[in-house]
Amino acid sequence: MEKASAAEVSGSYSAREKHAELTCRLEPEESYPDVPEYLKQTYWWAYLHPVGVRFFERQWIVNFILWGNFAKLRDEVLSELGASISGRILQVACVYGDFTPSVAARLAPDSRFDVVDVAQVQLENVSKKIKNHENVILHRQDSTRLEFEDNVFDQVVVFFLLHEQPLEVRRETVREAIRVVKPGGKVIFTDYHRPNILNPFRYIMVPVLMTLEPFAMDMWNNEITDWIPKEVTVRSVQKTEFFGGLYQKVVVTR
Ligand SMILES: C[S@@+](CC[C@H](N)C(=O)[O-])C[C@H]1O[C@@H](n2cnc3c(N)ncnc32)[C@H](O)[C@@H]1O
Repeated sequence: MEKASAAEVSGSYSAREKHAELTCRLEPEESYPDVPEYLKQTYWWAYLHPVGVRFFERQWIVNFILWGNFAKLRDEVLSELGASISGRILQVACVYGDFTPSVAARLAPDSRFDVVDVAQVQLENVSKKIKNHENVILHRQDSTRLEFEDNVFDQVVVFFLLHEQPLEVRRETVREAIRVVKPGGKVIFTDYHRPNILNPFRYIMVPVLMTLEPFAMDMWNNEITDWIPKEVTVRSVQKTEFFGGLYQKVVVTR
């Protein structure tokens, strides 16, 4: 798949957008080459259709979806990355809102920040948010087969991706995120988690997730470390829960 700077990736957006406005429905499958089936089937309205992208690309909406916790969870990742981020950083999959610009704003001059997503429309969207950062590189890649060498990144971020993937896909994403980080480097996962028994969201979220996010309950019933391949050894795992346990940050040091 291709690699592009932020400026290059923004080229074809308006024609595609106009076409979507006219048809206002999911285009035939061949319109999304190399996009995995689960994404087309389950999340086309949120991540693939340009009207969906325009709708969700609002800070208040992403914050609402996370029950007001977006900034808290973003800042948890930022403080893990450091006040000034040096070295090579990878973000696996785009995120709506100011997540990526906030990481980019902390980049040290000699750093490099790679962002991958399997959907072209998502890369076009993020490119508009990080226009002024020359050391951010966008790539169209699948999280299950990253096109980077082993051990090249100092830190890797995976923000609310795992719950959207079927089990076998999720396992490969975890494997790949760990493969590309250097020994001693960190992979920072942030995602859903089973809330504490007294947390009312434990009951509110079951129908929501079961209706809209068919793979998400796996996050309640497993640990992220369950998806680290058996043959891979890591130095440490640090898990922190937020909002009565509904969310988690898991930092795996390789
Ligand atoms: C990170 S997740 C969800 C983030 C969060 N819910 C938000 O507010 O945006 C959404 C992104 O994952 C991307 N994605 C899903 N499966 C992928 C895969 N196999 N490889 C790379 N990107 C993927 C989608 O295209 C989408 O841009």
